[in-house]
Amino acid sequence: MATEQTVNQGEVDVAGDGREMLSVKDERTGKTYELPITDGTIHAPDLRQIKVNEDDFGLMAYDPAFLNTASCRSDITWIDGDKGELWYRGIPIEQLCEQSTYVEVAYLLINGELPTKQQLEQWTFDITHHTFVHENIKKFVEGFRYDAHPMGMLLASVGALSTFYPEAKEIDDPEERYMATIRLIAKMPTLAAFAYRHNLGLPYVYPDNDLKYPGNFLSMLFKMTELKYEPDPRLERALDVLFILHADHEQNCSTNAVRGVGSSKVDPYSAVAAGVAALYGPLHGGANEAVLRMLHQIEKVENIPDFLESVKEGKGRLMGFGHRVYKNYDPRARIIKKNVDEVLEATGTNPLLDIAVELEKRALDDEYFTSRKLYPNVDFYSGLIYQALNIPTDMFTVIFAIPRTSGWVAQWLEMIDDSEQKIARPRQIYLGGGPRDYVPMSKR
Ligand code: ACO
Repeated sequence: MATEQTVNQGEVDVAGDGREMLSVKDERTGKTYELPITDGTIHAPDLRQIKVNEDDFGLMAYDPAFLNTASCRSDITWIDGDKGELWYRGIPIEQLCEQSTYVEVAYLLINGELPTKQQLEQWTFDITHHTFVHENIKKFVEGFRYDAHPMGMLLASVGALSTFYPEAKEIDDPEERYMATIRLIAKMPTLAAFAYRHNLGLPYVYPDNDLKYPGNFLSMLFKMTELKYEPDPRLERALDVLFILHADHEQNCSTNAVRGVGSSKVDPYSAVAAGVAALYGPLHGGANEAVLRMLHQIEKVENIPDFLESVKEGKGRLMGFGHRVYKNYDPRARIIKKNVDEVLEATGTNPLLDIAVELEKRALDDEYFTSRKLYPNVDFYSGLIYQALNIPTDMFTVIFAIPRTSGWVAQWLEMIDDSEQKIARPRQIYLGGGPRDYVPMSKR
């Protein structure tokens, strides 16, 4: 609604009915507009009424990389980047890591509440009994080159699941949604382990229904000739905690990819494949791999000052530091750091840990990093745990994708039930020329 009254741009008014309003004056026309504020946001389409004339398309918001744009309403995950807080469905991550398991957390993320004993038993049973993949998937994975990156194999095989379960495209059918949810959570570790064994030229290990979710994954990775693989409970627990920590992180790059692709109403396997692709990138899930490479490159504690200088000169980044949302210590990094000690107690020391600890200390003492609020993120220490578990660096992001699947699915489910959502389709600011005539080849 346009009015002629003059109000300073950006002033917050309260409408007669108690709603908060933003009054914006368009200096081009002298008109003032009242935009309702809901949940601390203005509705970007409301800007479209701000026009210089009737032919004008209307004002748009320009926000490359979504620095200040909420793309959805969500009940799933809360992050306070300044305080360093992370909650799943309102429960602080610290409590979940102390008291819960990944399988229970997956239920919480997807259903919104902690399960009763009976619900958890059913959920665990369903996940445990859908871990096998079709034999053709095995053949499909065999077709990759021996040195194929396991994340590329995971990306392709998750996407391929949609061809094995074509009924998953019935996304409005609650039964199909449930089956796809269970299958994705259950089969992700199997696909991940197949990719790992493929790289090593080892036979694939089938799931063991007697083991828990993380223990079964360790078995599929490491079982050799023994009749039964028995995971070290300390390592199994450490992996479970890592899974809890990585399960969801609200609207990050890969979740946004899942929601964006899922908004076309494609089946959830294809939408999750988009999430895996996004997670593959070095600025997202690939960072822990990059952290280990960086620690190897630093080689010894004495080289840290030179390395930090080179980062400050812009010759590279301190990998595992900085976060778009956390401007404080990432709470996940704090939990992982504690976990590192427990894992190393089981597996023996790792010289890279000394470098990591010293690097963190020095960076947190350095004005360059503190003034930019750069703190360790989840990836700074997770790579050290994976390394201690004997997991090769190429597999790190794959392991991240396993638990993040429950977050992706929770977000996908929330999106398809959200009546405000439509196919995701951003606008652009066109900077090209035209119209101009096509020039035939003979005249160019
Ligand atoms: N090392 C050195 N400088 C950094 C780092 C870093 N790790 N991260 C940010 N900066 C600097 C930037 O150069 C910039 O400085 P300037 O203002 O002088 O130009 C400033 O801090 C702000 O950085 P941006 O790139 O604008 O921050 P953004 O929010 O876009 O990036 C990101 C966040 C991508 C995570 C970044 O901090 C980074 O590249 N970190 C290293 C990679 C990493 O660890 N990624 C894992 C993220 S967690 C996850 O995905 C699971």
